[in-house]
Amino acid sequence: MKSLCSITFATRCVLLAGTLAVASPAAHAQPAPSTKPAPGKPAATEYKPEVGQEGKDVVWVPTSQALVNKMLDMAKLTAADIHYDLGSGDGRTVITAAKRGARAYGIEYNPAMVELSMRAAAKEGVAERATFAKADLFETDLSRATVVTLFLLPDINLKLRPKILDLKPGTRIVSNTFTMGEWEADETGTASSDEGSSYYRTALLWIVPAKVDGVWKSAQGDITFKQEFQKFGGSINVGGALTWMTAGKLRGDRITFSAGGTQYSGTVAGDTITGTAVSGGTSREWLATRSK
Ligand SMILES: C[S@@+](CC[C@H](N)C(=O)[O-])C[C@H]1O[C@@H](n2cnc3c(N)ncnc32)[C@H](O)[C@@H]1O
Repeated sequence: MKSLCSITFATRCVLLAGTLAVASPAAHAQPAPSTKPAPGKPAATEYKPEVGQEGKDVVWVPTSQALVNKMLDMAKLTAADIHYDLGSGDGRTVITAAKRGARAYGIEYNPAMVELSMRAAAKEGVAERATFAKADLFETDLSRATVVTLFLLPDINLKLRPKILDLKPGTRIVSNTFTMGEWEADETGTASSDEGSSYYRTALLWIVPAKVDGVWKSAQGDITFKQEFQKFGGSINVGGALTWMTAGKLRGDRITFSAGGTQYSGTVAGDTITGTAVSGGTSREWLATRSK
């Protein structure tokens, strides 16, 4: 069922259909018919997706190749990554990630788009690293992902958000245009070229933050973190005296903040933080363990 939002998207798609060039190699792939036509029978017609065509929760509009490149640049995607594109359309983002050496997975509900993507990946020589599944993006296990790309809708991003926040800290999420509600992006970028469209040129990057909310024990005193996504505030209780923290920041599993003239920095691993506490030019080891 389409939401009002997707209807808006669909309307935009219709407006865009004339201007949004389907310009990537993936989109231009000319798949060979899978079987030879019997003598006297017409050749099977090749499947051609149409911009704005129905999708399960979102219509199909391709991300411009310039923005695909920008999104993967912002994610700093390398051959070490495991990439998922949720609602992979004609497969262009997955194929581009695979060309950069990543193991890339496209999740797409429309089986014809899955077939089209597989043929395009084979044609581009990356079928071994680019895998496509006919599946519902809401039911897909993303636990192995280190990079996730999205071109969905704000309400769908919001629905996915709890699952995304449960991914490994440090996982990079990049969305074409649409936001994640009050979870602010860590970075925003613009495609160098819009391939003829003034819509959908912006990429937003989020880095899944470690979960630190709660009370932690450390030699410096009990630490209370009040976390909102990648931001937090809180205090250190030293012998009953509270010192408030400032400049609290989480980037994946890296945490930094200041309190009482000391700069804390460390790495969060589950219920332990290890790092350093620097004050007055002296650096000491800092260890905190979660107590609740
Ligand atoms: C806006 S297009 C984006 C395509 C591609 N990611 C890109 O950026 O070029 C959204 C895609 O999501 C697919 N889709 C919609 N709902 C889905 C669902 N529940 N599960 C999987 N795919 C879905 C649509 O068929 C469509 O191909």
